[in-house]
Amino acid sequence: MDRPKVLVAYYSRSGHTRRIARAIAAALGADLEALHDPTDRAGVLGFLRSGAEAAAGVLVPLERPRHDPATYDAVVIATPVWALSVSSPVRTYLWLERRRLPPVAFVATMGGRGADRGFAQMASVAARAPVATLAVTEREAVGALPRQGIARLTTAILVRARRPSRRRKARAA
Ligand SMILES: Cc1cc2nc3c(=O)[nH]c(=O)nc-3n(C[C@H](O)[C@H](O)[C@H](O)COP(=O)(O)O)c2cc1C
Repeated sequence: MDRPKVLVAYYSRSGHTRRIARAIAAALGADLEALHDPTDRAGVLGFLRSGAEAAAGVLVPLERPRHDPATYDAVVIATPVWALSVSSPVRTYLWLERRRLPPVAFVATMGGRGADRGFAQMASVAARAPVATLAVTEREAVGALPRQGIARLTTAILVRARRPSRRRKARAA
């Protein structure tokens, strides 16, 4: 049987979400889409700007992504939690790509809380419920990876992804 073709799209300011996204992509044999935004997020000002954007739910400039999510059978979207919310670059990605997304799974890294609220916001912006979610603490993101959580997420994606034959038909149409 064909394996589903999966994309892992993520934004990471300080590396935690990148590490989890890479581990999930490796487990699934998935392509990686690192989201880049031109906004300066360094230092205290960058921190405050990022938190304010996320709390306000604004969209931000984003470099054009390299991969087309519509050509995948499932997309994992990973964000840091900012101000108990989805980060502004990931909110923007979800909004821009919402009509091109196949089944989705959401991942969030956080200091300690806010992932569930972020997931609800992500589902609302993408106008679809995720097939699975995974919340990861900073401690896990820098230490021993949450292998069980990653295995649960990847299994759900493999079970609930669009069938590859349907993807081929969609591309041929
Ligand atoms: C602007 C900002 C706001 C944050 N707000 C929260 C928060 O509300 N709750 C939380 O648990 N962690 C919060 N954090 C911590 C990050 O979610 C956490 O460090 C995350 O793993 C960072 O991911 P990254 O290294 O991929 O950027 C915040 C971090 C930043 C920069």
